[in-house]
Amino acid sequence: MTTQHVEAYLDASLPAAERVADLLSRMTVEEKVGQMMQLDARDDLDQLVLERHVGSILHTSPERVLRAHELTGRTRLRIPLLVGEDCIHGHSFWEGATIFPTQLGMAASWSPELVERVARVTAVEVAATGIHWTFSPVLCITRDLRWGRVDETFGEDPFLIGELASAMVRGYQGDGLTDERAILATAKHFAGYSETQGGRDASEADLSRRKLRSWFLPPFERVAREGTGTFMLGYQTTDGVPITVNDWLLTDVLRGEWGYTGMLITDWDNVGRMVWEQQVQPDYAHASAAAVKAGNDMIMTTPGFYQGALDAIDQGLLRESDLDRAVSRVLRVKFDLGLFENPRRPDAERIAAEIATSEHEAVNVEVTRRSIVLLSNDGVLPLTETADRDETGRAVATEPRRVAVVGPLADEAQIQLGDWAGNSGQAGWLPDGHPRHMITTVLDGLRGLAPSGWEVGHARGADILTLAEHPEGSHFPDGQPRPPVIVAAETDQAQLDEAVALARESDYVVAVVGDRIELVGEGRSTATLELIGSQIAMLDALAATGTPMIVVLMASKPLVLPPSARNAAAVIWAASPGMKGGQAVAEIVLGLVEPSGRLPVSFALHVGQQPSYYNQIRGQHGDRYADLTQAPAWPFGHGLSYSSVEYGELSVEAESLTPSDVVRGHVRVTNTGSRPVLETVQVYVSDTVTSVSWADQELKAYRQVELAPGESRVVDLDLPVADCTIVDAEGRRIVEPGAFELRVGPSSDRSRLLRASFTVTG
Ligand code: NOJ
Repeated sequence: MTTQHVEAYLDASLPAAERVADLLSRMTVEEKVGQMMQLDARDDLDQLVLERHVGSILHTSPERVLRAHELTGRTRLRIPLLVGEDCIHGHSFWEGATIFPTQLGMAASWSPELVERVARVTAVEVAATGIHWTFSPVLCITRDLRWGRVDETFGEDPFLIGELASAMVRGYQGDGLTDERAILATAKHFAGYSETQGGRDASEADLSRRKLRSWFLPPFERVAREGTGTFMLGYQTTDGVPITVNDWLLTDVLRGEWGYTGMLITDWDNVGRMVWEQQVQPDYAHASAAAVKAGNDMIMTTPGFYQGALDAIDQGLLRESDLDRAVSRVLRVKFDLGLFENPRRPDAERIAAEIATSEHEAVNVEVTRRSIVLLSNDGVLPLTETADRDETGRAVATEPRRVAVVGPLADEAQIQLGDWAGNSGQAGWLPDGHPRHMITTVLDGLRGLAPSGWEVGHARGADILTLAEHPEGSHFPDGQPRPPVIVAAETDQAQLDEAVALARESDYVVAVVGDRIELVGEGRSTATLELIGSQIAMLDALAATGTPMIVVLMASKPLVLPPSARNAAAVIWAASPGMKGGQAVAEIVLGLVEPSGRLPVSFALHVGQQPSYYNQIRGQHGDRYADLTQAPAWPFGHGLSYSSVEYGELSVEAESLTPSDVVRGHVRVTNTGSRPVLETVQVYVSDTVTSVSWADQELKAYRQVELAPGESRVVDLDLPVADCTIVDAEGRRIVEPGAFELRVGPSSDRSRLLRASFTVTG
């Protein structure tokens, strides 16, 4: 009898650390460098796997995932690949997967519980297809609304971001990474990427360490401590230093203070950018050495890292042993996922059984309803009196009505999915996007749900933009395609007349306006926030007909509305609402579902108000410009329902507290209207005198309560004094003794907040 010799790293009974050490000892220097690399699977896959020994791939079409696994089987050590993808609001690039509202849309639900369920559904769908890792969630805080990636954030408040991001990570990572239906999460983009210059993407993030600690780092700290598998480092430089080599943030703060042991991945070509874009490294050898020494584990899409790292070793800039720390961490993740035993290939049976199930669709419908924010309403909504449905699911009404559904986004199925979905530009294998029949536009929704006997007419009315070749030519000198430029659409009089005529003969007009993918995303920040193309002319003309107008703003981020829209009978914001957007909008318009979304981000009145986030630092002279106040169009936290809620009797049990106590507050909320309501009771704290200037008020807690018509409840608000912190001049987060105010109400609008005082003793 002979005994088969098994290499230690393949022996699943051994501890992971031992397996890592064994495998590392068998790897050549080239294999180690390759293991640190994540390359674009749309390139020559055979070369990536067989010649570059890559540890990970991204942007992998379904066919290529299978091919990649097959190629891995032919490598010397058969180290399984980590397959990553941007599955940031559903399994973005898997045809027919469940596509949810964007992160900003989900944030309007203010519901960690729902966001966790969304992430769980996403994980189940993603894991079935052989992908192990999603580059989500985004923890950047929205600062300047002109930034092209506002839609990817959870909004402008660090506390709300922390609540929702933590829930999303729990949903993705499930009970732990040994669960085959879990995927690795990524907290990104560490840290400060969204602090732009004029909203321009990846511009210098001009941030002090204290400011980072005050608002940008807290959500990251929370998810780091809660075990998020990976962190992605953004594109930005701060104080001249690219995050990729920022020792203070990576070593002192993330690894040191927070004790983070997960894997760090750079953003797209961060290492190359230090050479060709930021020009802070002379060549790839120096850039690669600096990135390894700063503690990066995986280098995303810098093909030049391979030769760069090898050259760095030859030139004495790096030792082979410097690679070991990073490679060990990458291997450790693979062992923890159990990929050596089960590489988690695409599973045809699970794909058939677990993608786009009716349960997943139900979660999508629920979160989409909750993501929609009713911004204003003069009483026109809901269009029907009751929430009743007939046997076919349609709304019920006694009076026949005519509804004109107009606007360039009323029936644009793929556009309403938003960025990072289908044919939004990142994946070439879905040229036509997601299946049309899975998507409900506003026109579909109203046609399908309006009471029988109602007429639903449609006219486009306006266009947004066309694309034209860049004035300097369609390609860069190196042969790469140059993105086309955007040309705002001119008014087409015949198109406009048709919509106006339809509006005139209708009882209501529902105008669906907003932005398109060409105005959203990386490198696509906007100089203005106005509606582009002939949309404003259309809204003005529709308003002039006198037919009550309901504006549905289907926009990736808050835009500035013209007076004709701001003063319309009702305004609804549906941030890139995903596959079920039109259903949810129609249900809310018709009164089948109560609106409950709350703004996770302020809406500006004018682009010149940027930044318009609510938690600004005290100290400026007054609250206005010479020519405009600073008041937003709609503040953070705002959102209406079809009922009215009164707040009263705010009290705190004890007015004098120590830092280890809990502020126990109570407030009475009463539904004074005739429809049920889901009220988001918001709790802000204001520290009256601070040793350094600080935000006048910050969200510290909230409670969501359902109230039947006429119902009155006392809501308990527990808030640890330990959360009433500021960051002092030395950068320490502390509670400063003294006077505080608890402010409670339906939004961050100071005029609507009840106030109760308490004092913290030293
Ligand atoms: C660059 C983006 O900034 C990042 O968010 C994304 O995850 C990567 N590209 C991969 O697509």
